[in-house]
Amino acid sequence: MKKMIAPSILSADFGKLRDEIVTVVEAGADLIHVDCMDNHFVPNLTIGPVVLASLKGCIQVPFDVHLMVTDPSSLVAPFVEAGATMISVQVETELHLQRTLALIKARGAQAGVVLNPATPLVSLELVLPWTDFILIMTVNPGFASQSFLEPMFEKIRQTRNLVDRSGFPIQIEVDGGVKLSNVKAVFEAGADIVVAGSAIFGAADPALAVKKFREIADRFAS
Ligand code: DX5
Ligand code: ZN
Repeated sequence: MKKMIAPSILSADFGKLRDEIVTVVEAGADLIHVDCMDNHFVPNLTIGPVVLASLKGCIQVPFDVHLMVTDPSSLVAPFVEAGATMISVQVETELHLQRTLALIKARGAQAGVVLNPATPLVSLELVLPWTDFILIMTVNPGFASQSFLEPMFEKIRQTRNLVDRSGFPIQIEVDGGVKLSNVKAVFEAGADIVVAGSAIFGAADPALAVKKFREIADRFAS
């Protein structure tokens, strides 16, 4: 399966967001990762559906919305209408996880489950039938430019095993502290999709950074 690169716009220049997105997509990005934070679940406030709607149609690749909010289900419909085609929710916020995943799928988007570093894999096992992708956080959510938590490599490997044993066609996404220096190891541990914010938009040349990520990802092409 093709390994994918998802630049996170959290580290982009919001004054020229559309140009920043088009640049990384033209350079080979497979998805655009959109971090939605509500200043309750995480101590930061970012992008809502209104901003995403203003970007609708500027690219052909999916908008992958990562909801770091206390009430994710209420944002599913607005984000789908704004152009999201992948939506993930944090297990820690959701009392009715199966219902919210089913809602995302019913709206026609891919449903993702996100686990914080301290949250065990067992918390998503029972919802695998409604899960299109699992997002493993390798930093605590809230901010870009944090360091990758090394013990998460084992969690990625365990997630790979769980998915392979399940037989469901679930993709594994990894988010937080992914750089050119560790992305090969992240893919080797079992990731299908890597999110990279500061390593791409913080680089002097974001397009070149995407191409370098792409080069490493393509070595895994089977
Ligand atoms: C963190 C966000 C990430 C963030 C990653 O809460 O979920 O998507 O943008 O940024 P980097 O790649 O700089 O760690
Ligand atoms: Zn994210």
